[in-house]
Amino acid sequence: MLRFENVCFGYRGEDVMADVSFEMVEGEFTALMGENGAGKSTLCRLGNGLLKPMSGRVMVGGHNTKHVKTSSLAALVGFLFQNPDRQLCSGTVRGEIMLGLENTGFDKATRLKRCDMMLEMFGLDGTRDPFGLSRGERQKVALASVLAPKPGLLILDEPTTGLDYRECVTIMDIISRLNEEGTTILMVSHDMEVVGDFAKRALVLSGGHIVGDGPVREIMRDRAVMESSSLLPAQIPSLAMRIGDLGAAFGSAFTIDDMVAAVERSRDCSGMRRAAAS
Ligand SMILES: Nc1ncnc2c1ncn2[C@@H]1O[C@H](COP(=O)(O)OP(=O)(O)OP(=O)(O)O)[C@@H](O)[C@H]1O
Ligand SMILES: [Mg+2]
Repeated sequence: MLRFENVCFGYRGEDVMADVSFEMVEGEFTALMGENGAGKSTLCRLGNGLLKPMSGRVMVGGHNTKHVKTSSLAALVGFLFQNPDRQLCSGTVRGEIMLGLENTGFDKATRLKRCDMMLEMFGLDGTRDPFGLSRGERQKVALASVLAPKPGLLILDEPTTGLDYRECVTIMDIISRLNEEGTTILMVSHDMEVVGDFAKRALVLSGGHIVGDGPVREIMRDRAVMESSSLLPAQIPSLAMRIGDLGAAFGSAFTIDDMVAAVERSRDCSGMRRAAAS
C-alpha cells in the first residue's frame, strides 16, 4: 500500500531523511513517532506526494509518486495536515466536507449523503464558518473532509492535537473503526497512550533514520529506542518495566513479560479509556 525505498530528502541542502525504507501493507495501523524536528511531517508529505524524494522511491498503491500528480494521488491517500488551518478554505463546514468529496467520482446524491454522514459522525453543524470554530473543532472539520471520500490509505499528522480527552477518544474510535473496515493508517502522534491503545506497529524516526520498527508494545519497551527519541512509553508498559526492574533487584523470578501479561489481563486499557469518556 505504501512503500519507501531508500528515500533521501532535505530542505535547502540540509538532509532530513537519509536512506529511509519501510513498507506498509493493506489494513495496517502504524504510528510514526519521533522527537520534534525528526522529520515525521516531512515523511507524511513524501507519502502523499506533496514532496518528492531527492533519491529513492515512494510507492503508493503501486504508483511511483514522482510520476503521478499529487491531485491524482489524492483519490488514494487521505492526508490530514498537522495544522488544520493549512487545509481549511471553505466558508462553511458543509462546504469544506463537500470540497473533500470533489473529484472522487461519487455522484452528487452520494456526495451529499456522505457529507451528512460525516456531519453526524463528528457532531458538526454544517452551517458554521470553520474559522469561527475552536482549534479542536477545526481539527474535526479537517478530519471529516479527509475521511469523507473513504480513501484506502490515511496519513494523519497528529490527528488528536488540540482535542480534549473525550474528543480524542471519539476521533480515535472513528479512525480505529475505519481501520477495522480495511483502511490503512499511518498516524503521527506524540501521545503514547493513544499510540499504545490504537496502533499495532510503530516506526520511530531519529536523525533522518528509522531507528525502531516493530509491534507497538515491543518498541515501547525498547529503552534505547525510546530514549534516543525523547519518547516516554505509555503507562502500562512503563509500569511493567518498573515492576520488572524491582523484581530483578529483589531476585524475583518474574519477568517483564509476566508483568505485562498480568497487568493487561487485569485491566483492558482501551476499554477503560472508552468507558471513562462515555
Ligand atoms: N518547508 C521547510 N523548509 C525548510 N526546512 C524545513 C521545512 N519543513 C521542515 N523543515 C525542517 O525539517 C526538519 C523536519 O521537520 P518536520 O516538520 O518534518 O519534523 P517533525 O518530526 O514533524 O516535527 P514536529 O514533531 O515538531 O512536528 C526540521 O528541522 C524542520 O525545521
Ligand atoms: Mg510534524
